[in-house]
Amino acid sequence: MELLKGKKGIITGALNDKSIAWKVAERAIAEGADIVLTNTALSLRMGSLQEFADAHGCKLIAADATSLEDLGALVDGAMEHFGGPFDFVLHSIGMSPNVRKGRPYESLDYGFLSKTLDISALSFHKLLHTLYEKDALKEWGSVVALTYIAAERTFAGYNDMADAKALLQSIARSFGMIYGASKHVRINTVSQSPTATTAGQGIAGMEDMLKYADRMSPLGNATADDCADYIVTLFSDYTRKVTMQNLYHDGGFSSVGLTAAEVATFPKE
Ligand SMILES: NC(=O)c1ccc[n+]([C@@H]2O[C@H](COP(=O)([O-])OP(=O)(O)OC[C@H]3O[C@@H](n4cnc5c(N)ncnc54)[C@H](O)[C@@H]3O)[C@@H](O)[C@H]2O)c1
Repeated sequence: MELLKGKKGIITGALNDKSIAWKVAERAIAEGADIVLTNTALSLRMGSLQEFADAHGCKLIAADATSLEDLGALVDGAMEHFGGPFDFVLHSIGMSPNVRKGRPYESLDYGFLSKTLDISALSFHKLLHTLYEKDALKEWGSVVALTYIAAERTFAGYNDMADAKALLQSIARSFGMIYGASKHVRINTVSQSPTATTAGQGIAGMEDMLKYADRMSPLGNATADDCADYIVTLFSDYTRKVTMQNLYHDGGFSSVGLTAAEVATFPKE
């Protein structure tokens, strides 16, 4: 539909073809965008982003999103590639060493917690700060970060990622006010259904969680492809006055108390 014809942007967090960011990158290109891809040097070795960049002729810049130096080089590199300021950015980054190492929430390793918050939430502030300082986004630009409903309601097993997502959503509002007033840049978070990706599979009981969420969502779980469809609308000119919002993209899960599909799983007695 050429929703993003002539638009340019950075997409973070595509690791492999399961990644939500991978689907967003594919869809953004299909909608006419020119994109710069980025991920950590380690994930570029472990995943398949280089192949994606080669296949689509995209520029790829390695950056650790916790490093202001790397983010500075990323934004400079993107501006050089695009010939100036650009239109959109996707933050699709999350990782919890506590989840990875099986540390339960009541017994967190605080060094790991700092890493969770730095990678999954503060990286968003650092990215926005870098974009703002370098005046890298055009008027009416759009920034989207991915989040999960565990920021508002507690989900067993989501652990310290819940705290990171709550912080991420707060940063979207706080920076959204500043960037909106100064440059009409909008900043939103998309709260996505559980999705079978590399990060998603790190969460305890993910398979059961996917089935539960599906039964509790009148429209069914939103897939990574569905999420990409939604996010390109948020990068397009059709959503220019939507900002500082946490937007649920979850098949209705967030508004449901109990569905008939879930009741059907209850033991008869
Ligand atoms: N999968 C789900 O169920 C689900 C649901 C809601 C929201 N999300 C969010 O979607 C986003 C993308 O996750 P995904 O599910 O596509 O999994 P994914 O594993 O494909 O993506 C996570 C990405 O974060 C990157 N990353 C980790 N540390 C980094 C760092 N220091 N600097 C830069 N990048 C770094 C990884 O390399 C990876 O590409 C995350 O924010 C995640 O929390 C996922």
